[in-house]
Amino acid sequence: MDGRRPLPLLVALLLLLARRSLTSPDADVLFAFKATITDNSGALRSWDQESDPCTGNATKWAGVLCDDDGSVSGLRLANMDLAGVIDIGPLAALPRLRSFSIVNNAFDGKMPEFGKLKSMKAVYLSRNKFSGELPDSAFADMGWLKKLYLSNNEFTGAIPASVAALPRLLELGLDGNGFTGPIPELRSNDLKMVNFSNNHLEGSIPASLRKMDANLFSGNEGLCGEPLQVSCSSSPPPSPPLSSSPNQTLLHVVVALTLFLAIVAVILSLRRRPSENNANPPPAVMKSKAAPTKEEAMEEGTTKSDAGSTTSKKSGKESDQGRLIFVKEGMGRFELKDLLKSSAEVLATSNFVSSYKASLPDGTAMVVKRFRNMNRVGKEDFDEHMRRLGRLSHPNLLPLVAYYYRKDEKLLVTGYAAKRSLADLLRGSESSKLDWCARLKIVKGVAKGLNYLYEELQMLSVPHGHLKSTNVLLDESFSPLLTDFALIPVTNPAHAAQFMAAFNCPEYKKQERTSKKSDVWNLGMLILEILTGKAPATEKGGADLLGLASSTPREEWASKVLDGETTAKATAAAQEEMLKLLQVGLDCCEEDVEKRCELEEALDRIEVLREEGGGAGGDPATH
Ligand SMILES: *[C@@H]1O[C@H](CO)[C@@H](O)[C@H](O)[C@H]1NC(C)=O
Ligand SMILES: *[C@@H]1O[C@H](CO)[C@@H](O)[C@H](O)[C@H]1NC(C)=O
Repeated sequence: MDGRRPLPLLVALLLLLARRSLTSPDADVLFAFKATITDNSGALRSWDQESDPCTGNATKWAGVLCDDDGSVSGLRLANMDLAGVIDIGPLAALPRLRSFSIVNNAFDGKMPEFGKLKSMKAVYLSRNKFSGELPDSAFADMGWLKKLYLSNNEFTGAIPASVAALPRLLELGLDGNGFTGPIPELRSNDLKMVNFSNNHLEGSIPASLRKMDANLFSGNEGLCGEPLQVSCSSSPPPSPPLSSSPNQTLLHVVVALTLFLAIVAVILSLRRRPSENNANPPPAVMKSKAAPTKEEAMEEGTTKSDAGSTTSKKSGKESDQGRLIFVKEGMGRFELKDLLKSSAEVLATSNFVSSYKASLPDGTAMVVKRFRNMNRVGKEDFDEHMRRLGRLSHPNLLPLVAYYYRKDEKLLVTGYAAKRSLADLLRGSESSKLDWCARLKIVKGVAKGLNYLYEELQMLSVPHGHLKSTNVLLDESFSPLLTDFALIPVTNPAHAAQFMAAFNCPEYKKQERTSKKSDVWNLGMLILEILTGKAPATEKGGADLLGLASSTPREEWASKVLDGETTAKATAAAQEEMLKLLQVGLDCCEEDVEKRCELEEALDRIEVLREEGGGAGGDPATH
């Protein structure tokens, strides 16, 4: 195992820091992925360039396939002498990834969790050293998967039910493993190729596979049924294993040999063509009726590693250069190198920030956020602002722990909250857990956290600056934690104006002005979002919540504006409180800044709201 440990994520991050140019989120993701594997022969050194992985559909990165719109659509890492344990997590952040090949490398351990990549069309893992049983649900969510090759590994156990259930499967290669038990009935009607040979499968071959070639089932002592011309005798499924007759075995050998020669011929003819073009993948070796699309063209064993660019730069040594600067007392001390040793996963990438989770040797998890548009502020001012943020302490704020300064890029380290964002919860399958009590608790916590920022950061023109539902984290009891606050002073102005929530306020749109009340406007929008359960217009597919609420008469708010399910479950008294909160939200969203509610007033009005209404009258209700 020694010398084979996956490179930790932050080594890759630091290499990134050493680069000058701004790269796309896809570049971060690929670096995070690369950091989890061992590149024995430097096959992926072209991934160290100061470039994006994709420029339109072209790429200089070995093994990367690109869409016309410049996103990564496939990874073709066959024959690259790669090893280690693959962490699929980072790849889930590549929205357009459709194909993945690591054929003929030295990966081992359990099969990576491909089930996380729900839009994959083709997965090729053949000829590695993966082992162990596959969970029954391993492929459960992969409704688009057309090609799955697990051939020639060391898998054992039953063929997972989720493989049998794949609705669009065209090709399935399970040959050369230690699979046991029966071959399940495969759901897909489009199967073009299956290969079950050389396993320990037994029982009768499903009727739907009867027309397939016999040699695709050979090398399984216990199989019977039509293609093999081995009758399944009397007792139905678990029949006594019958070995095939010598004649038949000979037939299989001849068929297999012919096929093998045919394949070799095709491969040779391909090799002879002048290759070296990354953008055009070699055509499929196996016949497939439809013309292969780019991702489908990827086929076993046809990729050459790109040996072209030898611009390997100084690597690992860079890592000692940076020191983390701690701003929070009482947090266990650690160094950048401790984070470097940890394995990590990508939490999110956006134009504003990329977030990674890293675990310290003692198991403590930290979040590392990488910002690339904070280079207009000198080191002294930056240090001072970070110290200021480090002094903040409030139950509704996620504290800044440390930071790392480099001229062009910055890392901020915060605690890790194993929590989901308010946006995820509001729009996810568990939104029904957010009853009125929970929603009110969230609004109260957000308002308190915001008010604390106002008191502590009076010198800032917009104390929070980026208040929105994806920046509110919730724990199990729905206590909110604000993140990404007070960053306007260190963010490049043009970048801030483009990506930060405060700049969505009407005074910025009309007069390019922001003020403390811009945060109040964001608070109002957040209240509307929480009460309606709908996404705001600033998000894709969102609605004009403000327009809806302000154009609906108060009598109809309960039926037309508030979230239906929450309202239905609330008592009449609670509904009245919901309406009061909606009015606070509208007053915070007053277009005229002068007339807009002050934060203090909003907080006062929010704090007196009750879960069950009533307030003063000694309501015996809940707590
Ligand atoms: C099926 O798998 C066996 C064993 O790996 C291999 O020899 C044979 O060529 C495969 N057949 C096809 C059609 O791919
Ligand atoms: C890449 O894009 C160019 C221009 O849009 C096009 O001519 C070419 O065929 C594309 N190549 C591939 C492999 O899709």
